[in-house]
This record gives sequence, structure tokens and C-alpha cells, in this order.
Amino acid sequence: MGKDVIVACDFSSAAETFAFLDKFTEEKPFVKIGMELFYAEGPQIVRDIKARGHKIFLDLKLHDIPNTVGKAMRVLSNLDVDIVNLHAAGTSAMMKAALEGLTRPDGTRPLLIAVTQLTSTDEQTMRSELLIGRPLDEVVMCYARNAASAGLDGVVCSPLEAGKVHEKCGADFLTVTPGVRFADGEVGDQKRVTTPAQAKELGSDYIVVGRPITKADDPVEAYRRCVKEFVG
Ligand code: C5P
Repeated sequence: MGKDVIVACDFSSAAETFAFLDKFTEEKPFVKIGMELFYAEGPQIVRDIKARGHKIFLDLKLHDIPNTVGKAMRVLSNLDVDIVNLHAAGTSAMMKAALEGLTRPDGTRPLLIAVTQLTSTDEQTMRSELLIGRPLDEVVMCYARNAASAGLDGVVCSPLEAGKVHEKCGADFLTVTPGVRFADGEVGDQKRVTTPAQAKELGSDYIVVGRPITKADDPVEAYRRCVKEFVG
């Protein structure tokens, strides 16, 4: 898969999601389904969006014992999603079990990527609550390397970290990057943001864009602008 823009469909119902996707009459954006929508509507929402011809990144961030994650991944793989994810903090054993669970009898499987440290966790909290005393960027890179060694396909990270992740884990190791805003747009609650064009320059493989598209007056135009800047 080449570079692409993934639209974060952070809606709470199928009706809202379809009303949004119906605006796209010419293109079929790659869609991210997160916990909110999945828990509200169940696996049928994945089948329905897939049936409309969209690729799907199912962002459920699994984290449990290897056996449980492996079995859950088998179920998600049967849903025919394109990308799924988990927490690298679940350890290499969990990541390997996940890969095994995802792999279909014919050898194919969805791409599997890892969340390193959540961007909502800062170094201070990591030290005081998780008792991890190393610098945050060192922890992120260590988790990324663990994911690469376990055979995963990439990580979710900031575009600002994409270059370093590629340097440490290889050019083919995918960087899927949220925190993207247009130069003239609202930043909202995102802290370290880049534009789609900057994300491209920094080496991101996929940008995940939510509100700059979903809340735009003209979401289709905003999506096209993202694609033009990021994919070219
Ligand atoms: O609306 P916005 O463009 O900020 O949406 C970004 C999407 O990426 C949201 O679905 C958010 O949950 C997700 N995300 C993030 N930062 C991370 C991981 C995921 O913003 N570190």
C-alpha cells in the first residue's frame, strides 16, 4: 500500500457515519473506525463500511494476555479489515500471538501496527505513575523496535517521529501519523501538529485526519486538499 490519507470517523452512530460518507460520491476514502463507533454499532459497522468499498483501519488498541489477543485478532481478521492495532506495552509475546491470530489460512492478514506510548501520557506521568524513568522518546523508540522485532508492520506516531522510526526500524516499517492540521486551520486539542505537506516531507506513510475533514464546511474539498498535499 502506498501513501494515503485515513479519515478518522469519530462518530457515535452508523447514521452519522453514513451521512458523512455519503458526501463522497467520487472517491472512497480510507476510513478509521475507533472504539466509540465500534462499541456503539458492533462489528456490523465494519462490514457495512467495507461493503461500500472503503479500506478500514480498525483502531481498537488491543492489550491483554497473548492468548486473548490472539483469539480476538482472529475475529477481527475475519472482518476483513486492512489495518488493526494493539499496545506495544503488551510485550513481544502478545504482539507475536496477535500476528498469529491475524494470519488467515491462506497466509494473508491485515497490517498490524502498534501504539507506543499514548500521546496523552507525558514523561512526568510515565515516571510517577508507570515507574518508567527513561526519557519518553527513548521509550517510544524502544517500543517501536520491539514491535518491528516481533514482526509487526509499523507504529502509530507523530509525523515528527516518523523519520527516527524509519531510521531505527527500517524504511518499510510503516508510520501512521495523527496530529495533522492545515496551515490555516484550528489546532484544537492536538499539541504537536504538522500540515499534510510537512508530514509527507517528514516521511509519514499514512496520515490520520479527523476534525479538519469531518468538521469542515466542505468535507470532500478538505479531504481532496489533504490528498493533494500529502500524496501529490
Ligand atoms: O480530529 P483529529 O484529526 O485530531 O483526529 C485524530 C485521530 O487520531 C483521532 O481519532 C484520535 O483518537 C487519533 N489519535 C491521535 N493521537 C494518537 C493516537 C490516535 O490523535 N496518538
